[in-house]
Amino acid sequence: MRYVANTDRYRDMVYNRCGNSGIQLPAISLGLWNNFSDNDPIENQRVMLFKAFDLGITHFDLANNYGPPAGSAEINFGRILREDLAAYRDEMIISTKAGFRMWDGPYGDWGSRKYLVASLDQSLKRMGLEYVDIFYHHRPDPNTPLEETMAALDQIVRQGTALYVGISNYDADQTKEAVKILQEQNTPFIIHQAAYSMLDRKIEHGLTEVLEKNSIGCIAFVPLAQGLLTNKYLNGIPKDSRAAKDYIPFLNEKDISSSVLQKVKSLNDLAASRGQSLAQMALVWVLQQKSVASALIGASRASQIEENVRALENIQFSADEMKQINEILK
Ligand SMILES: NC(=O)c1ccc[n+]([C@@H]2O[C@H](COP(=O)([O-])OP(=O)(O)OC[C@H]3O[C@@H](n4cnc5c(N)ncnc54)[C@H](OP(=O)(O)O)[C@@H]3O)[C@@H](O)[C@H]2O)c1
Repeated sequence: MRYVANTDRYRDMVYNRCGNSGIQLPAISLGLWNNFSDNDPIENQRVMLFKAFDLGITHFDLANNYGPPAGSAEINFGRILREDLAAYRDEMIISTKAGFRMWDGPYGDWGSRKYLVASLDQSLKRMGLEYVDIFYHHRPDPNTPLEETMAALDQIVRQGTALYVGISNYDADQTKEAVKILQEQNTPFIIHQAAYSMLDRKIEHGLTEVLEKNSIGCIAFVPLAQGLLTNKYLNGIPKDSRAAKDYIPFLNEKDISSSVLQKVKSLNDLAASRGQSLAQMALVWVLQQKSVASALIGASRASQIEENVRALENIQFSADEMKQINEILK
C-alpha cells in the first residue's frame, strides 16, 4: 500500500504549546509501546500510523525498549517511515527514551552518561534517523548523580542527536532538582512524560504545580489506563484485547477488578450522557489539566485512533459533570 497523504490532515486536530517552548503538540499523540512489535502485523502498524498522521497526529512516541523484542518498535517504525513517510519527517515530532534495561551488563540500564549516549545512537540507527525531536530519561536512577544524567541530556542536544529533552516518571521533588540543573546548563528541557488518567491522579499531588511553575509541558501517558477507561472490559475480557495477550504482561485479569469496573460503568454512563464514548471522555478529561499539552494514547487498530481523535469535538465539561466524575472516582 502506498501512502497518499490526506491534504486536510491539520483541519480537525488541536495543537497545544508544550510549556513555554516553541513546540506545539497535537492534543492526541500516538505511543508505540504496544502493537508495534514483531508479534504485530506490519500492515496493521502501517495502517495505524497512516491513520494517525492523516488525522493530524504529528507526535509519535517510542523508547529503546519498546517491543518485544526490545528495539523492535523502533525498527518497525523506522521501516514504515523510510518506506512511506520519509517525505513528512519535518512534519513530525519523534521521541525516544532510555532508562530501563536494554542490553546486558552494567552499561545498558538506568541513567549513566555511557548508557544514555550509546542508547540514543542505537535508537537512531534502528529508526534510520539523524536526530530525534525529544529524548527522555525514562526513569530516575537512584544510584547515578542527577548531575551526570542531566549533563548527558545536555550533551545529546549539543551533539545534535536530539532537539529537546524530557524526563519521565520523576516525582515532584526529583523534577524540581532536574529543572534546577537543566536550567543552569541552559538545556532545552520542555517536557515531562507522566502517567495520568482518571484512575491515576498522582501527578495532581505536587508534580503539576512544579511543571506549571517552571513552564514545563506535560504529556500524559496511559490516559485510557491501557484500555480500562473504555467500554471494552465491561462484559468480560475480549480475546483480542491487551489483557488477553500473553506476550503483553502489563495488563492482566487481576487489574480488572469489580471495584474498578463499577467506576468504569458509571463513567461510561456519564460519557454517554455527553454524547461521547468513555474513551473520548477520558481523553478530554486529562486535557483539562492545565500543564497537559497532549494525551499520549496507544491503539491496536486504526478505528480506535479515529474514535479517540473525535474526542476533541467536545472538550468542555460542565461544573456538574466534573463534580459527578470526582464523586465516581472517590
Ligand atoms: N514513560 C513511560 O514510562 C511510559 C509508560 C507506559 C506508556 N508510555 C507511553 O504511553 C503510550 C500509551 O500507553 P498505552 O497504550 O497503555 O495507553 P492507553 O491509551 O491508556 O491504552 C491504549 C489501549 O487502550 C485500548 N484503546 C485505545 N483506544 C480505544 C478505544 N477507542 N476503544 C477501545 N479501546 C481502546 C487499546 O487496547 P487493546 O490493545 O486492548 O485494543 C489500546 O492498546 C505508550 O505507547 C508509550 O508511548 C510511557
